Amino acid sequence: MKNFAAFQRLLPLVKLFPWAIPAIVALGVLSSLFEGLSISLFIPVLQTLLQDAPQAATNSPLLQGLFRLLAGIPERDRLWLLPAAIFGCILIKNGLSYINTVLSAWLSARISHRLRSQVFEQLLSVGYSYLETQESGKLMNTLASETWRTSQALSTLISLITTVCTTVVYAALLMLISWPLTLLIGVVMGLISLIIQLVTRRIKILGQQAVQANADLGVRMYEGLVGMRTIRAFGQEDYEQQQFDRTSRRVQKALLKLDIVSGTVQPLYELLSALLVLSILVLVGLHDRASLPTLLTFLFMLYRLQPQMQQIDGYRTSLLALSSSIDDVFLFLDRDSKPYLRSGTVQFLGLRQQIALESVSFRYTAQDQPAIDHICLQIAAGKTTALVGPSGAGKSTLIHLICRFHDPSAGEIWVDGQPLRSLDLKSWRDRMAIVSQDIHIFNATIAQNIAYGCSTASRAEIVAAAKQAHAHEFISQLPQGYDTPVGDRGIRLSGGQRQRIALARAIIRDPDILILDEATNALDSISEFLIQEALDLFGRDRTVIVIAHRFSTIKHADQIAVLDQGQIVEQGTLDRLLRQDGLFAQMYRLQNRALKP
Ligand SMILES: Nc1ncnc2c1ncn2[C@@H]1O[C@H](COP(=O)(O)OP(=O)(O)OP(=O)(O)O)[C@@H](O)[C@H]1O
Ligand SMILES: [Mg+2]
Repeated sequence: MKNFAAFQRLLPLVKLFPWAIPAIVALGVLSSLFEGLSISLFIPVLQTLLQDAPQAATNSPLLQGLFRLLAGIPERDRLWLLPAAIFGCILIKNGLSYINTVLSAWLSARISHRLRSQVFEQLLSVGYSYLETQESGKLMNTLASETWRTSQALSTLISLITTVCTTVVYAALLMLISWPLTLLIGVVMGLISLIIQLVTRRIKILGQQAVQANADLGVRMYEGLVGMRTIRAFGQEDYEQQQFDRTSRRVQKALLKLDIVSGTVQPLYELLSALLVLSILVLVGLHDRASLPTLLTFLFMLYRLQPQMQQIDGYRTSLLALSSSIDDVFLFLDRDSKPYLRSGTVQFLGLRQQIALESVSFRYTAQDQPAIDHICLQIAAGKTTALVGPSGAGKSTLIHLICRFHDPSAGEIWVDGQPLRSLDLKSWRDRMAIVSQDIHIFNATIAQNIAYGCSTASRAEIVAAAKQAHAHEFISQLPQGYDTPVGDRGIRLSGGQRQRIALARAIIRDPDILILDEATNALDSISEFLIQEALDLFGRDRTVIVIAHRFSTIKHADQIAVLDQGQIVEQGTLDRLLRQDGLFAQMYRLQNRALKP
């Protein structure tokens, strides 16, 4: 019962609105009851018109009841009363189905919104270590396409429930009119359904292939967009186009195959059931002409039932085809299989003494070697600590551990004698500001970008922060000043301009702990000098951790830690390190030599 499993997975969503499903079922049952009644009323109409049919020659309890009711009404009146009643039933039926349609649409729109929102929430809360193992394009596909397809599955499920209700009501009415005939038809219909199932078994597999192909296409699209400049600069347009076309063609083929197979269901069904109806008409019509009005009504009802039964199979196959999307979304939403950083409870009110790293190690899931290997380091409050070292030494990783984007695999980080894990995560991050290596500029105005982590900032505060970051001059020259839209949809900023915005964004938070990861490396030397002076002033009495390749930036650091291959190889003040004549002194000399004419 694969589709039952798919249904079960949708259950938590359906439970959000517990009254909705019973309401939809009730409306479905009521509307089909009224439709069935309107059709049954055709029997007395036909009999009245034919005038020769013996009314009592039926053993159907439904019809007998109906005839008893009509017995007291003169024949003349029957001819306008009955059609009026039929019309009334049809009116009520359609009113109810309209309400049902609106209710279902409302429900599935609400639920698909919740689903998207939950996926996004998961994206924001799940541990970094999980996200790092996922392809960005695939995540985009989950967020954009698969949530949508899952809500489609939900609408399909609702339709399925409604249709099943209708079918049950019709089947009951048919039983009331003639149970032997209904049983016979039931058996034949069951056989037809079995034949159809042979076809639908393939649909599930094809559905999985289509989801996989779509996910791959998502990855290609994402790479094409993000890597556009590199692709063009290296003249790889043809190669990328070929790769894209190949993946796109796989989607094309997978979807086409899916449609070809699913497309056979309806014609097959219609042919087989037409055969069934015609055989009954011929068989019964030949033997028992007296009950012709009953038979005609029966067949008419059966005829109305056909599309419903057909739809049940259609909905079932759609659900099967969509079940891979449901899997994809719910696998992503599943919290048990993923790591989370648990926030502590101790409120962090400000750093008083130091951050101490005690034999801290960390390894990325994708790497064999630890990125941080048994590091011990004290970062004193109110002082500036510089981290230097070759590329890939683990400097950014160390900072990410201090920001608690990850937890160390071994060892402990202490904050004023408290384990970092025990601190309330929000209160910890609230007191810090980071300018990281990869700056993100949001699709918003300059002012909104600067005030990103400090939504209460006034315009005056924003301008003050921009001035400190030496960004005010270039912002004033923009067409709309601080209200200029930037990011993908607005003006693109240069690398140096982005860094200045990021610095202003950090400054405006008035942090206790300021972290600068190559925060000025994109600036020209004059700007860097000016900003360095401003940062020295700003960093006074704050705890500053600075990573820089240019040694001019770290001259005033209170201590310098030299990292190499995840370990601290040297540590001390600038003078001491130079005297030690180790890795640092070597790097320092090389840089100075390069600067000399
Ligand atoms: N998200 C990640 N997943 C797997 N490995 C990573 C990840 N980020 C960094 N690494 C690896 O961890 C090691 C340390 O990287 P890190 O970014 O800390 O270096 P870094 O000292 O900041 O270098 P740079 O000066 O170039 O910025 C590198 O070997 C890198 O390949
Ligand atoms: Mg780095």
